[in-house]
Amino acid sequence: MASQFLLLGILAITCSAALASDPSPLQDFCVADSKSPVLVNGLLCKDPKMVQANDFSFNGLHLTGNTSNAVGSRVTPVFVAQVPGLNSLGISMARIDFAPWGINPPHTHPRASEILTVLKGSLQVGFVTSNPENHLITKVLQKGDVFVFPVGLVHFQRNIGYSNAIAIAALGSQNPGVITIANAVFGSNPDIPSDLLAKAFQVDKSIIYKLQSQF
Ligand SMILES: *[C@@H]1O[C@H](CO)[C@@H](O)[C@H](O)[C@H]1NC(C)=O
Repeated sequence: MASQFLLLGILAITCSAALASDPSPLQDFCVADSKSPVLVNGLLCKDPKMVQANDFSFNGLHLTGNTSNAVGSRVTPVFVAQVPGLNSLGISMARIDFAPWGINPPHTHPRASEILTVLKGSLQVGFVTSNPENHLITKVLQKGDVFVFPVGLVHFQRNIGYSNAIAIAALGSQNPGVITIANAVFGSNPDIPSDLLAKAFQVDKSIIYKLQSQF
């Protein structure tokens, strides 16, 4: 009996480790049916007989994203929302365009690790380890270089050049999720109480009001 419990325990531990990313598919594919009102963990499958090549396809990753915004970058996602055939497969990708000195601000993907390569220009990239170390791991990447951002960790990229930069990222989820730190903390709807943030950031409330008005 005791050994059975031990076995169950080991099974539970190994299973939870295996489920740290998207669950494995149980069929060849499960093309997302965007019209279904039923919600599951992921999206409901379209009738396989109705599936077409276009369900597995996306056009336009050669196009430059519009970086005319406050941060000077643009992410073009190729997630399950863009490619229904990614449903249940645990992968996705994105193109990131950077204006000169543009940044992709500190953010995290709650459901995916990310591997990124530079197609054009030079990027400073980095991520911060969790508490208590909060160690910044950072590097300058040139064209052709690859860098990995572990799942859940806060990370960023910055174009450190005088011309545009382009990167392609692959992510380990059909729907990695993006939490941009500044937007989540200072731009939530409704606001997180400013006195709470003043205490959290150990600054005057006027600084929090200023930040909240930016996001
Ligand atoms: C890029 O975005 C800016 C700001 O939203 C907009 O004014 C501009 O027309 C856009 N440019 C193109 C080429 O779409």
